[in-house]
Amino acid sequence: MASGPLIKLAVFGNPVAQSRSPEIHGLFAAQCGLRVDYRAIQVTADTFAQEVRMLALEGGRGCNITAPFKNAAWQLASHDSDSARRAQAANTLVFDNDESWFADSTDGMGLLQDLQDGASVELAGASICLLGAGGAAAGVLGALLNADPDKVVVANRSLEKAQQLELAHRDLGEVVACKPAELSSEAPFDLFINATSLGHSGHAPVLDPSWLNPEALCYDMNYGEAAEPLRRKCEEQRICYRDGLGMLVQQAALSFELWTGKMPDVAEVLEHLRDSAG
Ligand code: ATR
Repeated sequence: MASGPLIKLAVFGNPVAQSRSPEIHGLFAAQCGLRVDYRAIQVTADTFAQEVRMLALEGGRGCNITAPFKNAAWQLASHDSDSARRAQAANTLVFDNDESWFADSTDGMGLLQDLQDGASVELAGASICLLGAGGAAAGVLGALLNADPDKVVVANRSLEKAQQLELAHRDLGEVVACKPAELSSEAPFDLFINATSLGHSGHAPVLDPSWLNPEALCYDMNYGEAAEPLRRKCEEQRICYRDGLGMLVQQAALSFELWTGKMPDVAEVLEHLRDSAG
């Protein structure tokens, strides 16, 4: 039975109707016996800050932020975590009060937890390829480097964006920027992470099986429909594949813990989501 004061939360984005966060946080709340009102609120660049302020003024505990407002959210905060600062983006705001807001980026830790708990990947000493250098890649690079891999190669169509990420993270470990066409000279990899948005337009990224070690995992930060092109490609090429649904639930759990102090049982919620997807 849920008890205690109503905890007001929301996710802001555009579009946001597709977000699975209200469902996930509803499941967390039920698990933890908390009363949670978690809404999906569509905003524009003009209304974003004002809507977040409104939630804080109404006594909200915090919010999630999805594309394209993660950078704007980070800028609104009065203090931040190291991961948010490096990514210059926040997927989570915690309202200490009306005016003092903490920005965090839980995507990187969410990815790490899913790789370790969900896929039993050993990151220490691993050779990792991170494909993409947009917001999704920026949100996880720091956490990957903190896990002490041998190296992380950031490969991106626009080399400059990969180089910017390299520059912002090279104090954390061995990070190399290159174009996808140069990947064969950086291979082989133990872990190949797709952080591009290609799946949303029905395409799989380049992935040559010769770039991978025999036991390598291809991890797609996409889930649902957007994950299908790469899932199919990996099946055809007999490459071990995992989609990003576990990362989604893990990053949500870390946000939930920041707001409520309670860590939900991620495995149970993930199983429920996979079962309900058929
Ligand atoms: P997100 O927030 O999902 O990361 P983004 O910041 O727009 O979205 O980044 C999209 C990523 O997918 C980028 O790395 C982008 O490459 P560019 O930086 O060169 O644009 C990559 N991407 C998108 N479409 C692509 C395509 N057709 N071919 C190769 N890479 C693509």
